[in-house]
Amino acid sequence: MNYARVSGTGSYLPSGVLTNADLEKMIDTSDEWIFERTGIRQRHMAAPGETTSDLALHASRRALDAAGLQASELDMILVATTTPDQIFPSTACLLQAKLEVGGCPALDIQAVCSGFVYAVGIADQFIRGGQCRHVLVVGAETLSRITDYTDRGNCILWGDGAGAVILSRSDEPGVISTHLHADGAHRSLLEVPAGPSRNDVTDDKIRMEGRAVFKVAVNTLDQIVDETLKHNGIGKGDIDWLVPHQANIRIIQATAKKLAMSMDRVVVTIETHGNTSAASIPLALDVGVRDGRIKPGELILTEAFGGGFTWGANLIRM
Ligand code: COA
Repeated sequence: MNYARVSGTGSYLPSGVLTNADLEKMIDTSDEWIFERTGIRQRHMAAPGETTSDLALHASRRALDAAGLQASELDMILVATTTPDQIFPSTACLLQAKLEVGGCPALDIQAVCSGFVYAVGIADQFIRGGQCRHVLVVGAETLSRITDYTDRGNCILWGDGAGAVILSRSDEPGVISTHLHADGAHRSLLEVPAGPSRNDVTDDKIRMEGRAVFKVAVNTLDQIVDETLKHNGIGKGDIDWLVPHQANIRIIQATAKKLAMSMDRVVVTIETHGNTSAASIPLALDVGVRDGRIKPGELILTEAFGGGFTWGANLIRM
């Protein structure tokens, strides 16, 4: 039986930082308000001209090094992003060119903050089916480019960054299960209205009904945790680490409570990373792996909720 196992992780944060103190000079807010409501103190910002594929390249090289692989050994490149460099080619194709490897399939996955969870599920299918041996799965975002820094209701959340994993064929699991969902009925609660087809709309920044999104996120993540545990016939105590999408510390705490996990079993990066959408889980995973908290053989649960709405989870044996 083929399984997809994490053979390497990597991440990259651009050097620019936007602190809550910086935001206090831009909008009517305070460090106390932001930290209390979100758990965020700062977020990283891509430099002018630094694109999503640039961030993805750094994270990918680190993941390849950790896996002991050359880019030429990749059978597929998936990039989960909501902030592609351009409409086309895909960011995955641009990343492929920067990695100087041609030939293998490369495509973007657009599921907003759930994009990495979706991409892992897709990569897993190609590896289980025997079509791929090594798949590069990246979550990368330059959300600062679609953030309205006059809208205090959401500009406090978003940050830039990239995380990557290599999934490699193995006899041992690996990605044990993936659970994906979407409900397209709530567009108005979280969206960027402009797009090339709706070309009469010029608003190309994130619009969000924060309180409504918060409620749906907590309920939905509760359900996805139940679904994952039930599907695998495991109990709450079987999970070693929760590696959640970093949307808001209060949403993360609610999921940890649901799992009866103490917060020291949860990888939390939101304080310094903010919400980096599709990049947040692979960024957190890489932090947890590199600082030695997440060890080979441990069971991790990822979960995410995002625009669409989309939501999902992966149960992974490291
Ligand atoms: N600084 C200070 N005050 C702010 C503020 C800010 N940055 N943003 C909003 N406020 C004010 C509001 O104007 C409102 O004032 P009022 O009571 O006088 O009308 C008050 O704070 C409460 O606003 P509300 O929007 O209800 O706050 P909240 O507790 O829901 O927190 C979010 C706002 C955005 C932090 C929170 O709703 C959230 O995190 N939602 C989930 C968003 C999310 O995770 N999205 C991504 C999903 S992937």
